[in-house]
Amino acid sequence: MRLVTRLSQCNNFHDFRALARLRLPGPIFNYIDGGADDETTYRENTRAFERCDLLPSVLRGVKDIDMSVTVMGQKLAMPFYCSPTALQRLFHHEGERAVAAAAEKYGTMFGVSSLGTVSLEELRRKHTNPQVYQFYFHRDRGLNRAMMQRAKDAGVEVMMLTVDSITGGNRERDLRTGFSIPFKLTMGGMIQFAIKPMWGINYVTHEKFRLPQLEEHVDMSGGASSIGGYFSNMLDPSMNWDDVAEMVDQWGGQFCLKGVMTAADARRAAEIGCTGVVLSNHGGRQLDGSRTPFDQLKEVLDAAGDRLDVLMDSGVQRGTHVLKALSLGAKAVGLGRFYLYPLAAAGQAGVERALGLMRAEIERGMRLMGVTSISQLSPDNLRFR
Ligand code: FNR
Ligand code: LAC
Repeated sequence: MRLVTRLSQCNNFHDFRALARLRLPGPIFNYIDGGADDETTYRENTRAFERCDLLPSVLRGVKDIDMSVTVMGQKLAMPFYCSPTALQRLFHHEGERAVAAAAEKYGTMFGVSSLGTVSLEELRRKHTNPQVYQFYFHRDRGLNRAMMQRAKDAGVEVMMLTVDSITGGNRERDLRTGFSIPFKLTMGGMIQFAIKPMWGINYVTHEKFRLPQLEEHVDMSGGASSIGGYFSNMLDPSMNWDDVAEMVDQWGGQFCLKGVMTAADARRAAEIGCTGVVLSNHGGRQLDGSRTPFDQLKEVLDAAGDRLDVLMDSGVQRGTHVLKALSLGAKAVGLGRFYLYPLAAAGQAGVERALGLMRAEIERGMRLMGVTSISQLSPDNLRFR
């Protein structure tokens, strides 16, 4: 890994990752960086983009580039968005505030997790760009109804129900470090915190850690609850299509399922009134050995692409990855670690730099591909090897 010590040296995903690794205590870095089991799916997610090649057209006149897209009724200036992720103020004290502000600067959508550390209402009040609320389906139906109502009252544009986390993935790095919320560290984990004192100073000198989406309903103060424990104890493993159909009705607006992987499930999502699906394997953090969203994209688009918006995330590190997914027909692409490492490395300035680099890569890629708008990309621009 290249030695990177400052934000100004970060020019790609790998640089941000290196800087995040330098700044974060090991258990937190590994929580972000890790996947499930042997991390096979996690590695394949990015490799999938490398099994096909772009076919550029030339001499098309590509002076003015428009990379805006409309997805689930939201106009985005860029064809990518910040996918919802948990616990952001643990990674950097600016947390969700930094991500929402950077997304606004670039005219794109951001997600707020059920396990977010800043309230969805605060973020909705402060920003004008579209906001997604990521929903985990809890055993307590009253809690689910109350959470949906809150998001509705706040004016959140898109509801995103995560369906690939019916139980916790086996994140062995977290087992080794003892990563949990609140912390219950192993001895090795404690040493990792001791050697990154700046993180600790920032953590204790800023607003107390909270989970404002959940705290009215769930007592998070008693004892440590690991992420796996949260999934296993709080979320409802009996969740099924009927439950989701009810939620879609109750929401009455843009509603998508995150973590759908098959054509049949995408069709079923359309049947119950969903307006989008996100093909995702949660960045390789849940079912190891599962196929990559990019490899599944064509099949799902062929089956349901005319009935709802098909998005994808997992493994996206480059503008050309986004262009490949859009060429197949994805409406937009979600970023996870791509903005989390920059957040951890440098807060809002880091996320802004990363999103700016992604925009520049897409703009350059579009020019080199001979297209001036996203709608000009098509499967003709791709060949699988
Ligand atoms: C996530 N992701 C996630 N997804 C979700 O629906 N709710 C959540 O709370 C979280 N939290 C979360 C935390 C961290 C640290 C990571 C890395 C990921 C998954 C996320 O939204 C997205 O699907 C993946 O991150 C996409 O993969 P890449 O881009 O990280 O490879
Ligand atoms: C994760 C959860 C919280 O991936 O979605 O860690």
